[in-house]
Amino acid sequence: MTATGTSLESAGGGVAGSTETIVAVDELSVRYHGATVLQKISFNLQAGDFAIFVGPNGGGKTTLFRALLGLIDIDHGGIQICGATPAQARTAIGYVPQRNVYDPRFPLRVAELVAMGCLGPGMRRLYDRSEEKRRVDEALDAVGMLGRARAPIRELSGGQLQRAFIARGLVSAPRLLILDEPVTHLDARITASFYRLLRRLQERGLTILMSTHDAGAAAQAGDRLFEISGRLREQLIGSGSGETHNA
Ligand SMILES: Nc1ncnc2c1ncn2[C@@H]1O[C@H](COP(=O)(O)OP(=O)(O)O)[C@@H](O)[C@H]1O
Ligand SMILES: [Mg+2]
Repeated sequence: MTATGTSLESAGGGVAGSTETIVAVDELSVRYHGATVLQKISFNLQAGDFAIFVGPNGGGKTTLFRALLGLIDIDHGGIQICGATPAQARTAIGYVPQRNVYDPRFPLRVAELVAMGCLGPGMRRLYDRSEEKRRVDEALDAVGMLGRARAPIRELSGGQLQRAFIARGLVSAPRLLILDEPVTHLDARITASFYRLLRRLQERGLTILMSTHDAGAAAQAGDRLFEISGRLREQLIGSGSGETHNA
């Protein structure tokens, strides 16, 4: 079966000022073995929002992201992605996981890594071969890596590898891109260019949700800042007031 989806160009259809709700989280609670990890978290993201999540290790950032992806059971509350359940919306979400350990000697080329984003549930291919190639090229182009499509991933720098992972997240033309601590191993210059890339994707209407330990991230990227430590609070940024309110 070949899924039809919006192309990257039309992803989001993000018109400035549009108010389509992409993420709606309502009183979400998650527990592991009786210990509460997320407690009654509520927030909404609109099309084109760029939200940054900061907080201590163990604060629940990865848990929240996995809940949005429908990968964990929730104890209480609701999640809607583009008006559907996380499981239904799975191909509407691109995911760049917290840097996982992988063997850099693994003989994988950049285009092959990106094509892994074309696998649906049960490793089923979402698109036929020519559509897959078109999407891989488009995603690589979006992150400035088309010229490296044939390169083995072991030859990439840290910044290039992170771009390749983003391309993998973009290949299904998602409405929402979730990045879990994507700049942890990148230096300041690469991080800045990485944020510019995310800004360009946001301008195309993509909704972005990113966790980070980079305290400067909110100044360079993002327009909403959330602090998550079991509970969630939104910090108002841009006003310079440092004022907070419960999200
Ligand atoms: N699969 C799991 N089983 C049990 N506890 C978990 C699991 N995943 C995370 N936790 C716990 O949930 C809490 C939140 O973890 P996590 O979401 O990874 O936080 P963060 O990404 O903000 O560092 C931590 O106390 C962690 O130990
Ligand atoms: Mg984490």
